[in-house]
Amino acid sequence: MKQAVITGVAGFLPDYVLTNQELETMVDTNDQWIRERTGIVERRLLKEKGKGTSDLAVPAVLELLKKTGTAPEDVDLVVCCTVTADFRFPDTGTLICHKAGLTNAYGYDLSAACSGFVYGLHAAAQYIKAGTHKKVIVVGADKMSSIMDYTNRNTCILFGDGAGVVMLEPSDDETLGLRETVLYGDGSGGAELYQLGGGSVHGTTQETLDKNMHVIEQNGRVVFKRAVKGMSSAIKKVLEKSNLAGEDIKWVVPHQANIRIIESVAGQLDFPMEKVMVTIEKYGNTTAATIPLCLRDYESQLKKGDQLILTAFGGGYTWGAIRLVWGYNS
Ligand code: ACO
Repeated sequence: MKQAVITGVAGFLPDYVLTNQELETMVDTNDQWIRERTGIVERRLLKEKGKGTSDLAVPAVLELLKKTGTAPEDVDLVVCCTVTADFRFPDTGTLICHKAGLTNAYGYDLSAACSGFVYGLHAAAQYIKAGTHKKVIVVGADKMSSIMDYTNRNTCILFGDGAGVVMLEPSDDETLGLRETVLYGDGSGGAELYQLGGGSVHGTTQETLDKNMHVIEQNGRVVFKRAVKGMSSAIKKVLEKSNLAGEDIKWVVPHQANIRIIESVAGQLDFPMEKVMVTIEKYGNTTAATIPLCLRDYESQLKKGDQLILTAFGGGYTWGAIRLVWGYNS
């Protein structure tokens, strides 16, 4: 059977930098608290009017095509992982295909919040392994600023906008590519982390606007604990399924929500932080984009054959982990 291997990564961050200092002028917070409690120093925002998540994803996709030497017409599919679609419909995946000139590709959206990229990567790998698709782009992209309440210090300090993308292709090399995967969901978590307005239950009305229902709300402490537990147990399960120990893993690529969550997960598994990819200080939590942006930022340090574990936890709740063997030297 063919293996599904990542053959390139790329990303895009908008220019505007929202610093902790600027947040101090917006809500009752301070730089020291944000750094100590979250590890975040700044995040990027897409400020231009009329631009959405596809406008974050398209430059990343174009860069990916260039880096991998792929002709736009050779791409088969775009799996767009996002909770901030441009519109309810048309879906963002289809818009990305159109805007990036992927004339023979189709696309669709996958909504699993901060776990979107691991869900999407797993889904994309099935098309490659089945032999039905040869070039699949997995996009993790979110314009979190579009659903943020910049008067709520419980949420607005955490999130940023960005896009990360990977190319997935078949390989005959049995030793490379995606290996064991565990994915989980628990809908009872919907009570702790949500954006209620604008869906089919609470379609947009004057009442939903007056009640501020179109922004993220969360019970931060509860989510924090569940995130540590979820990612740690998912990594343990993947190690167990693959018959590997922590020391066999070269890199852990965790979803970037809070440096204290990342450090707790690493601590529980005895992973030294040097093995853990961290970008949170620069970008904050970009939801579906955090993992592919980590891969992009660390790409030059990755070597063919390196063992990686990707792990995420997010709204839903959704969570999971994937072991993969890196496929190229850059
Ligand atoms: N600035 C300054 N002070 C603050 C802020 C702030 N932005 N927010 C809370 N505080 C204060 C509180 O009022 C409280 O003060 P008190 O002790 O006088 O009552 C104190 O700081 C501690 O508050 P906590 O809510 O306990 O702070 P905590 O350390 O839990 O940090 C945070 C809050 C950052 C939200 C954390 O719980 C967290 O990161 N949770 C995970 C949430 C998350 O990541 N959600 C994203 C989606 S899911 C995911 O990506 C995994």
